[in-house]
Amino acid sequence: MNIKDSWLKEGFVNEPISEGLDLRAEIKKLKQEKNAIIMGHFYQKDEIQDIADFVGDSLALAQEAAKTDADIILLAGVHFMGETAKILSPEKKVLVPDMNAGCSLADSCPYDAFEAFIKDHPDHTVLTYVNTTAAIKSLSDIIVTSTNAKAVVDSLPKDEKIIFGPDRNLGNYLNSVTGRNMLLWDGACHVHEKFSVEKIVELKKQHPDAEVLAHPECKKPLLILADKVGSTAALLKHTIQSSTKKFIVATESGIIHQMTKAHPEKTFIPAPPKDSTCACNDCEFMKLNTLEKIYNSLKYEWPEILIDEELRQKAVKPIVKMLEISERYGL
Ligand code: 13P
Ligand code: SF4
Repeated sequence: MNIKDSWLKEGFVNEPISEGLDLRAEIKKLKQEKNAIIMGHFYQKDEIQDIADFVGDSLALAQEAAKTDADIILLAGVHFMGETAKILSPEKKVLVPDMNAGCSLADSCPYDAFEAFIKDHPDHTVLTYVNTTAAIKSLSDIIVTSTNAKAVVDSLPKDEKIIFGPDRNLGNYLNSVTGRNMLLWDGACHVHEKFSVEKIVELKKQHPDAEVLAHPECKKPLLILADKVGSTAALLKHTIQSSTKKFIVATESGIIHQMTKAHPEKTFIPAPPKDSTCACNDCEFMKLNTLEKIYNSLKYEWPEILIDEELRQKAVKPIVKMLEISERYGL
């Protein structure tokens, strides 16, 4: 197999990096030469967040992708984030450094089964979380992220019948904070479901002055004991604005990098998962991205996200609705 065939097979450019190459400087040079922007999610490795031109949550990444004037968007995140960028900016080249960066939550919502679920409930509005494939988005009426989900639900008439998918934990949480009774798809994120409530309660006993922060993809018992529930952006904002000095953070540990940068004097304790000796909880898909892969991806402009135009035109409508509602609510 020649080297390019092996790239295709592996889903990323695995060309070895020459010894002594200053990756950060080379990435910067490539970005300038090609008018490329590097956008990174909060769950990326610290060194990737530090070289990114833009770091944010899923909503901010979509908003930035819709307005950037770069010719190339390199999305350091997972596949559905690259797809969302491509759907919003079809004229741009969208790269994801490793095509294997999937999402267990998106995988928990297969097209045929979700389509059948919608057909079984024809009089329902379909809200789906952004952590889905382009095909699922094409079946949806409005997309939400954890930052704007409550605002989107609140924007709908009180008696509207709603299907929400794919995250059952976020769906349950939204039902409780909006007083709705949305019909939920039974999907979940393996990272957020594996936090150990027992270990977090233990940590809280050791650090009674700490606040527990949790992403709404976590299970209900953890959301009940949390002092603050919110998207990555909302949790970060809370740590910046709060006078509290110590936090137990129940979401992917990458977010702690921005929290620490904003407040190096505060203490951030990653919440531990169950059935593991690890002290923190990482998303292995998010962590597939490396500086080496970003360099190779920019150099060879591959792997590229490509979406069938007919599918894109269907998928863009619910995303644009989400962006309009977000703007209306100042999000
Ligand atoms: P945010 O929208 O809060 O960034 O979450 C993205 C995600 O993948 C959570 O697991
Ligand atoms: Fe998907 Fe969970 Fe990873 Fe987020 S943390 S990208 S929801 S698998």
